[in-house]
Amino acid sequence: MIQLIKGFKDVLPGEIEVWQTIERAAKETFENFGFQELRLPIVEKSELFSRSIGDTTDIVEKEMYTFEDGKRGHVTLRPEATASVVRSYIQHKMYAKDPIRKFYTIGPMFRRERPQKGRYRQFYQIDAEVFGIDSPYLDAQLIFMLATLLEKLKARDVKAHINSLGCPCCRPNFQKALKDLLDAKKESLCENCLRRSEKNPLRVLDCKVPSCREAVEGAPSILDHLCDDCREHFETVKAVLTENGVDFEVDTRLVRGLDYYTRTAFEVLTTSLGAQNAVAGGGRYDGLVKALGGPEIPAIGFAIGFDRLAEIVAMQQTIEADGPTLYIAPLGDAATNKAATWAMQLAANGVFCETDFAGRSLKSHMKRADKLNAAHVLMVGDDELDRGVAALRNMATKEQWDLPLDGLVETLVDRFN
Ligand code: HAM
Repeated sequence: MIQLIKGFKDVLPGEIEVWQTIERAAKETFENFGFQELRLPIVEKSELFSRSIGDTTDIVEKEMYTFEDGKRGHVTLRPEATASVVRSYIQHKMYAKDPIRKFYTIGPMFRRERPQKGRYRQFYQIDAEVFGIDSPYLDAQLIFMLATLLEKLKARDVKAHINSLGCPCCRPNFQKALKDLLDAKKESLCENCLRRSEKNPLRVLDCKVPSCREAVEGAPSILDHLCDDCREHFETVKAVLTENGVDFEVDTRLVRGLDYYTRTAFEVLTTSLGAQNAVAGGGRYDGLVKALGGPEIPAIGFAIGFDRLAEIVAMQQTIEADGPTLYIAPLGDAATNKAATWAMQLAANGVFCETDFAGRSLKSHMKRADKLNAAHVLMVGDDELDRGVAALRNMATKEQWDLPLDGLVETLVDRFN
């Protein structure tokens, strides 16, 4: 028996209903906020990710599925969607007609991380990106949109955490202050953080190793190092979130694991999932469009971890698949022949309809209808065919009616649509 690979999974009926509910709610919510869908390839040139996510990040250093693809050189299974959305925005010059564009995209991402609960090697993201607007109102609106979706899905135990990572003008001051502190605490840092403190000191703030946490306890706050513009931007984001009733907390240790961020960064955390507690993450990345060869256009976005959100929603409520509206129970060959046509026509005309061709007894048909959780059963045998009727039963109320065979499909379509 060939089994699936560790860190990968099948999403089966029983679980998929939650995924479908989330996907529908996300599309509806995002489209009401003006977002359009993009479908993008799963494989891109490796360079796209190393240049955007950053060479010294965990993702690029050790988690990418990269292989050589002949003349194309190195290609990578995308570890996230933002880089591809930006590539597409630039490549198709989508800014030429109107720099302001809002996109969402849903699909699988790949990271070779150590598999554990809530962390997979193939996972799914619901990703939203906005280009061409630098206003802090947009930052707040995006976080509000995310909160709206979570509320629609009745996801409990989730909270937005926000921070500002400053801009190329003010961040170096903070990096310098942090680096001085880290240099003085070298002996407490883990091997990873020793490296990070040289190339990317901000990431040390995010380390979960207890001795590193202790080492940065007295670290300066990035918020005390913001330039006036970044400070004003962050104050407005907070004020607009508060005004619009979004529950959030400021977390000065929130730095994100990808290098492209500037100013507002945020995550939605849950208390329901153990160690893998981030349900969504995002932020501004005002320099990335330019860095990847496009014009200077600001941008911001986030991605929801679809698997994690599905786990929370499934934990907190039951979402079951609907049963068929109608189950046709034919008795005998002539009735089976009719039932086959009716079932096809009804399904083609929007009625969720099931039947069975196995020549079952009425009792066995009723058992099957119950198993499928059918709302109605249409019974028809030789006797009914002779009388030109079929018997329709409402399975909940047990009421029953004879319907004429003449125009039966139209009658049922009218009744159930
Ligand atoms: P990220 O924080 O790397 O951000 O991922 C976003 C979310 O994807 C995480 O909060 C988590 O829920 C989920 N996720 C990440 N890795 C895994 C995994 N191995 N297994 C299950 N779920 C996972 C980004 O990817 C950015 N591109 C977000 C963004 C969009 N920033 C701006 N625009």
